[in-house]
Amino acid sequence: MNRASNTVSEEPARAELERSNSSNRNLSTHAPLSVAEGYERWAPIYDQDPNPLLACEERHLFPLLSDLLRTNLRNKCVLDLACGTGRWLERLMAAGGASGVGLDRSEPMLRVASAKSRIAGRLTRAACENLPFRSDVFDLAICSFALGHIADFGLMARELARVTRPSAVLFISDLHPDAYVRGWRVGFRDQNDAVQIETVPHSAKDTIRTFTSNGFECVTQVPLLLGETEKHFFDRAGKSDRFAEASQLPALLIFQFRRIESPITVGGAQ
Ligand SMILES: C[S@@+](CC[C@H](N)C(=O)[O-])C[C@H]1O[C@@H](n2cnc3c(N)ncnc32)[C@H](O)[C@@H]1O
Repeated sequence: MNRASNTVSEEPARAELERSNSSNRNLSTHAPLSVAEGYERWAPIYDQDPNPLLACEERHLFPLLSDLLRTNLRNKCVLDLACGTGRWLERLMAAGGASGVGLDRSEPMLRVASAKSRIAGRLTRAACENLPFRSDVFDLAICSFALGHIADFGLMARELARVTRPSAVLFISDLHPDAYVRGWRVGFRDQNDAVQIETVPHSAKDTIRTFTSNGFECVTQVPLLLGETEKHFFDRAGKSDRFAEASQLPALLIFQFRRIESPITVGGAQ
């Protein structure tokens, strides 16, 4: 099999999942970039990159989040953690979030977000592990495609438990751990190169254990497969023949957690 064609896209300036294989002529043979450098380079093209993973995630998650914001979480306060260019914050505000904040560490990603009128002025530069918010503020939080960049995500879980209200809903989505094992990587292609960004994969068990020991209960975990709706990304990249294989196994994993009622003590113990 020609491994070179395992990338979702060969076009420049397109987001893609790369298989880790240094003999692949499409892939950078450089070491993965740090998160800071990676997103500095990705930021200017992030929103223009056709990305089947983001599309698949939105297709499943957006109806659920919109429903919540229309019903149980009507007029509630939302947090988009590691918001990047504000993809989810913009949608959540449009879907009825009464107030909301997006937080990210990358200044270049936030600069792109701040050009979006609906969310300009709602953005904060900070780390997920040290949230600059008062306790008991948010009713809905989402952390999309960022957990794998956060080595010590126990700190993030503890901070999230602090800043969310009892019964708050938390969604975490990321590349499925099995997809990572199969060699999929988060990366992109710019004018010069195919680039991977440093990632630390977390097993589903670790993710659940970490959040449940820091004030959340796991409501559900849902593996997602790419579907026919995402096939056009492959077609446009001239890789229609790769779609069947890529869509056979879970690509994403989404967790829904709920902040439990009991107070969180310092250190995260219950
Ligand atoms: C793939 S992007 C996802 C952006 C957005 N959530 C989305 O789904 O489009 C990952 C983002 O995580 C941010 N990030 C990574 N580690 C972070 C940390 N420890 N604290 C805050 N942001 C972080 C990066 O700067 C980047 O903007």
